[in-house]
Amino acid sequence: MAFRTIGVVGFGLMGSGIVEVCARAGYDVAVREISDDLLSRGLDRLDRSLARGVERGKVSAADRDAARRRVRGTTRLEDLARCDLVIEAIVELMDHKKALFAELDGICPAAAVFASNTSSLSITEMASVTRRPARVLGLHFFNPVPVMKPVEMVRGFLTSEQTLAAARAFCETLGKTVVLCKDSPGFIVNLLLVPYLLDAVRALEMGVAGREDIDTAVQLGLNHPMGPLTLLDFVGIDTTYYIAEAMYQEFKDARYAAPPLMRKMVLAGHHGRKTGRGFYEYAEGIVR
Ligand code: 3HC
Repeated sequence: MAFRTIGVVGFGLMGSGIVEVCARAGYDVAVREISDDLLSRGLDRLDRSLARGVERGKVSAADRDAARRRVRGTTRLEDLARCDLVIEAIVELMDHKKALFAELDGICPAAAVFASNTSSLSITEMASVTRRPARVLGLHFFNPVPVMKPVEMVRGFLTSEQTLAAARAFCETLGKTVVLCKDSPGFIVNLLLVPYLLDAVRALEMGVAGREDIDTAVQLGLNHPMGPLTLLDFVGIDTTYYIAEAMYQEFKDARYAAPPLMRKMVLAGHHGRKTGRGFYEYAEGIVR
């Protein structure tokens, strides 16, 4: 089982990163968004990231052009019918993901493998709406995808060894380091990261310190590349909120309960860098 043509569903922050690493590794990629506007925003994000790769000397201009030619955008899910592997990177809501996989199951041949880039939701539950649960797994990439090395490979209850072996080989062709984990909410990284991020918001709510001081303390005190509130803006406050909710539903543990401030920010559209406002304000044209 080797993959040649990759389908990506969702062309947001994660989807565009996944498209980029696949195209740069030589795969043909069909990416689907629900509207022309979202499609062109995704292509724009891809172009800016590739340009940054060229600027930083990580990608040659010829490789950038070749990668760009391998990417085909569409608003029709049917255009992914000939993909060997389809990676889902849509909103972190189970109902949306199940509806998508059920539809894909009717479109793609039985041999195609489905992967979800979910950060927290059950692969087994997504697989249950398909007739190919042995060929469904989680491939959780990290943001920014072209830069971050790991992929959490998630074994659903019915995922076959053959599927895992093919997915591992595929991720390695992308230059990624694969870690295997079971289908448990938050997998490895978010199980540890989410309570920490939520505690940073609680510290802000409690008035322990201002946003800059919280971030500076962690960045310098723990030698992290970003403080927690900057990281929340970077990952997306909405995304983190949905991850926390899913983990809370599963564990019923207060550590995973999103603080009220986060919920208000999600409702107000303050989702972080992608909307121009989160814990900080951002000028238009920010790349990531
Ligand atoms: N392709 C390849 N490499 C690229 C690139 C591209 N398109 N764009 C940038 N790079 C490289 C740069 O060359 C540079 O490499 P170098 O160190 O060898 O020179 C490196 O990436 C960093 O790029 P920049 O210099 O542009 O940016 P910064 O130095 O400001 O770092 C950052 C930015 C990498 C985002 C850093 O701040 C960081 O690591 N932040 C933390 C990110 C993090 O924690 N991510 C995980 C979030 S959790 C998650 O995703 C899971 C989800 O489920 C919530």
